[in-house]
Amino acid sequence: MSTINHVLVTGGAGYIGSHTVVELIEAGNKVTVVDNLSRSEYKIIEGIETITGTKIDFHKMDCLDAEALHKLFSQNKFSSVIHFAAFKSVNESVAKPLSYYKNNVGSLIVLLDVMKTHDVKDLIFSSSCTVYGQPDQIPVDESAPFKKAESPYGSTKQVCEQILEEVATEGFRVVSLRYFNPIGAHPSALIGELPIGVPNNLVPYVTQTAAEVRKALTIFGNDYNTSDGSCVRDFIHVSDVAGAHVKAIDYVNKQSKSFYEAFNLGTGIGVSVLELVKKFMAVTGIRLNYSIGPRRPGDVEKVYANPEKIHKAFGWQTKYDLGQSLLHAWEWEKKLRDI
Ligand code: UD1
Repeated sequence: MSTINHVLVTGGAGYIGSHTVVELIEAGNKVTVVDNLSRSEYKIIEGIETITGTKIDFHKMDCLDAEALHKLFSQNKFSSVIHFAAFKSVNESVAKPLSYYKNNVGSLIVLLDVMKTHDVKDLIFSSSCTVYGQPDQIPVDESAPFKKAESPYGSTKQVCEQILEEVATEGFRVVSLRYFNPIGAHPSALIGELPIGVPNNLVPYVTQTAAEVRKALTIFGNDYNTSDGSCVRDFIHVSDVAGAHVKAIDYVNKQSKSFYEAFNLGTGIGVSVLELVKKFMAVTGIRLNYSIGPRRPGDVEKVYANPEKIHKAFGWQTKYDLGQSLLHAWEWEKKLRDI
């Protein structure tokens, strides 16, 4: 008989975190959420409660606060931790690199230290395909070397992975998941992404333009060496990303020794920015106001995953396609705007 996991989810009110909490609860796990709500809102926790019919054990807490974390770990016997709590804006990281290192790297170190003290050894870490930069080979697999990071944000993910690889030898069992481009929202439209101010990411910009919150979408560049000249990415439904974390917990549970392993978490399908925009118009029937603008500094031309390793190790597959992902993103935007 398997025991119930008690999973601590840091950043559980965030975009990927909240969807993961839903999947964890639906798979029968006990979950505790910490989040400082600096980049999210309590209504996301309420959305999770409505979807799952479960009261969430929520703690408004900062992961840099070692004392508060120690207290929480003393009061609970966590079986594993999923660490989402981090800043993720590429632009902001260029303007405020120190706050990115402090928050993203600092909180990981505090968390590892607290975990060690309380003998909690299993960790799933949120990494990013940004660690690869522009890879030499596409689809990119996990053996590709890290290139110089394009931003302090990317650099924090590289540094965190390196720390984890080294620290794992102290008895930890660690999986890093390198996310490609998570998009969409829970099919219920009760939780989704809450971008702060003007969105940097493509899909929130698309849905806000469709909702007439933004006048027009600018496509950053049409002179790349791709089929239609726009950049190519691997867009993956956020609930599929979330589901992989449940499998990651199972995977870690099965290992007898300490280890560190990184996995690509993408669909394996490259989609161009223009293709995505056209797909959005096709599935929603909305004519999107868009134009072509200059390239955005720091963008890689083309990146998509080779997801073979995660397929084999986790027995995980995606459930949603691009059209469903975009429809769910639009349903969420409409709910946010009362459209
Ligand atoms: C990047 C990182 C990703 C990170 C994410 C966090 C890479 C390959 N990916 O994603 O790891 O987690 O930032 O924010 O480095 N675009 C437009 N118009 C817009 C917005 C975006 O054309 O208004 C284009 C971009 O130029 C890009 C694509 O859409 O080609 C996707 O952009 P975005 O959603 O910001 O994600 P990435 O930059 O790929």
